[in-house]
Amino acid sequence: MRTPIIAGNWKMNTSVNEAVELVKRMLQVDRVKGVKKIICPPFVSLVPVKNLIENSSIELGAQNMYFEEKGAMTGEISPIMLNELCRYVILGHSERRQYFAETDEMINKKVKTAIRFNLVPILCVGETLKEKETEKTRDVVSRQVSRGLEGINATDSLVIAYEPIWAIGTGKSASVAEATNTISLIRATIEKMWSREKAETISILYGGSTNKQNITEFVRQDEIDGALVGGASLKADEFVDMVKQTAEIKNKA
Ligand code: 13P
Repeated sequence: MRTPIIAGNWKMNTSVNEAVELVKRMLQVDRVKGVKKIICPPFVSLVPVKNLIENSSIELGAQNMYFEEKGAMTGEISPIMLNELCRYVILGHSERRQYFAETDEMINKKVKTAIRFNLVPILCVGETLKEKETEKTRDVVSRQVSRGLEGINATDSLVIAYEPIWAIGTGKSASVAEATNTISLIRATIEKMWSREKAETISILYGGSTNKQNITEFVRQDEIDGALVGGASLKADEFVDMVKQTAEIKNKA
């Protein structure tokens, strides 16, 4: 039985003070049971946010990580720095792939390193609009999953987020059928690499223009274990509402 997850990726938003204010207004989700609540603020806000959520059920994640533990890598953040602070780390987000030239090979190294340092990777995969229009979604996504997880033994310490690039920040989410089909494909890809049993333990989220209006459509599907939320996670009330709606639907099932 997979516990549903609502994770907020704040991206490059919020000053430290704004992050603190935002999380204070989110603390009310503490009471919601049966859903993992994860927030991923910018690196500089991890410590103050950690202090605020310490006695709550809200968990913390980072938005990126380098794949070596230390050394001459100016400006990078290592798993050793993160594992004192948080449990999760988003890896391979399409914005990292697009704007910072991250390859499947680099992402695979990051996933391996994260697991080695007891961080749970939230591995992001998803196709571009062009790939969708030329019917390459299945090829692209299954390749990103198998390359991202290459050489990694079966583990429960992993979350995957299917985030079609054309749906991110556009206000145009994938249809429920598109999200469900691709998430089933991701699970089948993991099954091929590991086993059916292991594939069934991995939480797979949908991400891309989710909000309080459409979250229920997605989480009503057994295949979809929750959402990785961008813009809507910057509004405390909206994030809290999405967590509550998810709890209501998933706990009923
Ligand atoms: P939006 O929810 O703003 O579309 O962003 C999704 C996303 O990229 C989360 O990682």
